[in-house]
Amino acid sequence: MSKALIVYAHPAHQRSRANQALLNSVKDLTDVTIHDLYEVYPNFFIDVPAEQALLEQYDLIVIQHPVYWYNMPALLREWQDLVLEYGFAYGKGTRKLAGKGLWVVLTAGAPENTYAEGAVNERPLSEYFLQYDRMANVCGMQKLESYELYYGRHTSDADLNKRCADYRANLLRLLKEI
Ligand SMILES: Cc1cc2nc3c(=O)[nH]c(=O)nc-3n(C[C@H](O)[C@H](O)[C@H](O)COP(=O)(O)O)c2cc1C
Repeated sequence: MSKALIVYAHPAHQRSRANQALLNSVKDLTDVTIHDLYEVYPNFFIDVPAEQALLEQYDLIVIQHPVYWYNMPALLREWQDLVLEYGFAYGKGTRKLAGKGLWVVLTAGAPENTYAEGAVNERPLSEYFLQYDRMANVCGMQKLESYELYYGRHTSDADLNKRCADYRANLLRLLKEI
């Protein structure tokens, strides 16, 4: 069985509904480690060698966060700039993450039908995050189909429970496939 590292970035995890529920549904899995960046680095001083060493131990890297301004929260951008540096993640003969899986899990506040041409958010959510395809490509990682949860704070409890079961099943499937 492979091992997954969930690199999680949420500036207000205590007030989260969607991400808390998703993470609670997988936290018992022994092959899954949840790495909460805002908890570990509240002052944004990222320990780059420690992060790089951590990443190397896992087969599946999950990047999970709420959508903030059509983007990722700021600490994850900092992490991306510093940790995925030349000579580690990319560069001649030094792609230490090559071959690993990359699974992106996004939660959005808006409903899914707003992310379409002609609707208020103008285009599919995936188009705002094409950067992750590039990241996987530059690092030689295997980009897996992203997981999206919309209307995160307003879905019914029953729907959210179903999504949690689905998210967990997907993670277990990917761990077998990678
Ligand atoms: C600063 C900020 C920016 C946000 N930007 C977006 C956005 O661009 N698109 C969107 O659909 N939701 C946006 N949201 C809503 C969050 O994505 C949503 O509340 C979150 O994904 C729900 O997950 P949670 O319950 O784990 O916090 C934003 C929320 C905040 C606080």
